[in-house]
Amino acid sequence: SEDVFKKVVAHCKEYGYVFQSSEIYDGLGAVYDYGQYGVELKNNIKKYWWDAMVLLHDNVVGLDSAIFMHPKVWEASGHLDAFSDPLIDNKDSKKRYRADVLIEEYLQKIEGKINKEIDKAKKRFGDAFNEEEFRSTNQRVLANQAKIDETHSRFVKALEDNNLTDLRQLIIDCDIACPVSGSRNWTEVRQFNLMFSTEMGSTAEGANTIYLRPETAQGIFVNYLNVQKTGRMKLPFGIAQIGKAFRNEIVARQFIFRMREFEQMEMQFFVQPGEEIKWFEYWKEARMKWHKALGFNDEDYRYHDHDKLAHYANAATDVEYQFPFGFKEVEGIHSRTDFDLSQHQKFSGKKIQYFDPERNESYVPYVVETSIGVDRMFLQVLSASYEEEVINEEKNDTRVVLKLPAPLAPVKLAVLPLVKKDGLPEKAKEIIKELRYSFNCQYDEKDSIGKRYRRQDAIGTPFCVTVDHDTMEDNTVTIRYRDTMEQERVKIQDLEKIIGKQVNL
Ligand code: GAP
Repeated sequence: SEDVFKKVVAHCKEYGYVFQSSEIYDGLGAVYDYGQYGVELKNNIKKYWWDAMVLLHDNVVGLDSAIFMHPKVWEASGHLDAFSDPLIDNKDSKKRYRADVLIEEYLQKIEGKINKEIDKAKKRFGDAFNEEEFRSTNQRVLANQAKIDETHSRFVKALEDNNLTDLRQLIIDCDIACPVSGSRNWTEVRQFNLMFSTEMGSTAEGANTIYLRPETAQGIFVNYLNVQKTGRMKLPFGIAQIGKAFRNEIVARQFIFRMREFEQMEMQFFVQPGEEIKWFEYWKEARMKWHKALGFNDEDYRYHDHDKLAHYANAATDVEYQFPFGFKEVEGIHSRTDFDLSQHQKFSGKKIQYFDPERNESYVPYVVETSIGVDRMFLQVLSASYEEEVINEEKNDTRVVLKLPAPLAPVKLAVLPLVKKDGLPEKAKEIIKELRYSFNCQYDEKDSIGKRYRRQDAIGTPFCVTVDHDTMEDNTVTIRYRDTMEQERVKIQDLEKIIGKQVNL
């Protein structure tokens, strides 16, 4: 299925969904541009989220805060101190790695050795094989398991203590080699902050280092008072925002799954202290429903509840989707307590509280956050929609089709004149003129009708309408449905209703 992933990536490029940034200069690592269809899909995903969060909830309002923020924000939020990855360089290959990833991969390798040993024994002993007994008696398995346990506990301790010297010693003790050169010549481990910085004002004296925001959430926290007061908001209420975020990711791979410039859709829901777990459960369920309402396979979604929580969180879960490269996080739902608002209260010296008229007291609200990456959702939708279908095995007839949910599809309707004469093109354009205010329509008159259908399948257009000579007589057209390839004769005046029923959420 890594193969499928490669095909999805190639398809994105070939059909104008995603391009490498600055491609004519050989690209820029982990930065991507969205093409003519990509931007439409992305906008539709954002609308699907915005409508569900803001329009359908009386007590959730929107916000669009700036990317640049006062540098104190990142001190208060903890990003300046703690938003970093432990990096190590290999002196011979001059390649850089995340120290924690090297160790994780090493642990996986040993786990693999154990599994091989077990598979071998299974074959030898057949039905008589007892895995538990084998694990507790086989010397090689026992030695490897001990190695895993010891390495893992040293690893966890080094991370918890933020002890970079121990982290390096562990890499040396485990005899981990550079994946590229095999060399074991490692530098010290350094913490590398993931925030991009730049300077505001002149670069001369007095210039201020500022950061490109690594999450949109802080823009919401610092506007809590503004929105609460001007909107006369009562707890519980939420503030939702869509916007760019930037992280100098080191392990930047997997296409748009992990990018250095990406977009987030985040919502902070402010609640009474003590009510946060109730609301955490509410949003956990609501967000999963939102994902599943798109109609992909239910089994491809799961929760991943966190056992190990960040120091400020008291509950956290991820919504994971089964990508071609395995189950991975698409969205995080976190109960963040009053950590962020209290920190901003402390660092700004401003009182950031809520006066509760029922309890007749003021307090710092608790926060439940939902946070999803637009680009990651985009990849999820494309991975789930991409299909190669055999139409006729004998004739070797296949098609590539993007079975995008109709509300998300970039083009809703293609209008195709059967031939380029007898007034058919004009008639087709008339139909588009009528419908273009309701749906994104495309006109196509080039190549055979079969080829045009396939082109629309590859873009993911849910409806094709063909104008033929009968259309000129009776104002009917053939509508062809993307997924079933079924065709039907309908009146032009009914098109808006037929299509509208499926594309409007
Ligand atoms: N405010 C909380 C927060 O930012 P996060 O888990 O770091 O939490 C939330 O990010 C979501 O943003 C992730 O679930 C993912 O969808 C997306 N995301 C994070 N880093 C990303 C990256 N480098 N590229 C693409 N999407 C990313």
